[in-house]
Amino acid sequence: MSEPKFFLFDHPLIQHKISILRDKQTSTKEFRELVNELAMLMAYEVTRDLPLKEVDIETPVAATKAKVLAGKKIALVPILRAGLGMVDGMLSIIPNAKVGHIGLYRDPNTLKPVEYYCKLPDDIQNREVILLDPMLATGGSASAAMTFLKERGIKNIKFVCLISAPDGIARLQQDHPDVPIFCAAKDERLNDHAYIIPGLGDAGDRLFGTN
Ligand code: PRP
Ligand code: URA
Repeated sequence: MSEPKFFLFDHPLIQHKISILRDKQTSTKEFRELVNELAMLMAYEVTRDLPLKEVDIETPVAATKAKVLAGKKIALVPILRAGLGMVDGMLSIIPNAKVGHIGLYRDPNTLKPVEYYCKLPDDIQNREVILLDPMLATGGSASAAMTFLKERGIKNIKFVCLISAPDGIARLQQDHPDVPIFCAAKDERLNDHAYIIPGLGDAGDRLFGTN
């Protein structure tokens, strides 16, 4: 089997936006805008392998063959809550994607993911799924979401996050080596509460203004 794929985005625009996102002074409004913009920028690279087909077109001056997307079907699946913040940015680049939702929260005592909601497009088995969650900490939530999707017959999954910790990456690469991980930052470690250090705090709270 081939090595698990891990893509770390080093584009200066992405790094700049991630730094503002981390800053505790950044407001909820700005945080939301940044997550949206980051998802949009990352969508560009995440869709790099989309297949193309050749069609005949006519420009104002000549007939020619041109490449267009072959129409591969995509579903975006945010892990609630924080994954919701990445949906609109992705949709602005992939407007025809359908959107499913998986509700998971991490129990603060056991750190295990607890599932509370799931609604997926009917034809999800025929789609490539882009699973979205800004934070990959222990990897418990993302791994559970991937297992859940695979149990529903989905074979083709990509995972997109903003900030990852080494533990979460190792966990996903062990549990789901077939799922490529795309992320904007790889941080140092987890603290005693399994928060990412330096991280950005609680992504859901910062996105929705709760605490
Ligand atoms: C956060 C985050 C991930 C999870 C990551 O969600 O959005 O889903 O934690 O942690 P893990 O890798 O250790 O599983 P949280 O459980 O805080 O739920 P929320 O989005 O509803 O606040
Ligand atoms: N979930 C978050 O929102 N932040 C972390 O640092 C870890 C898990």
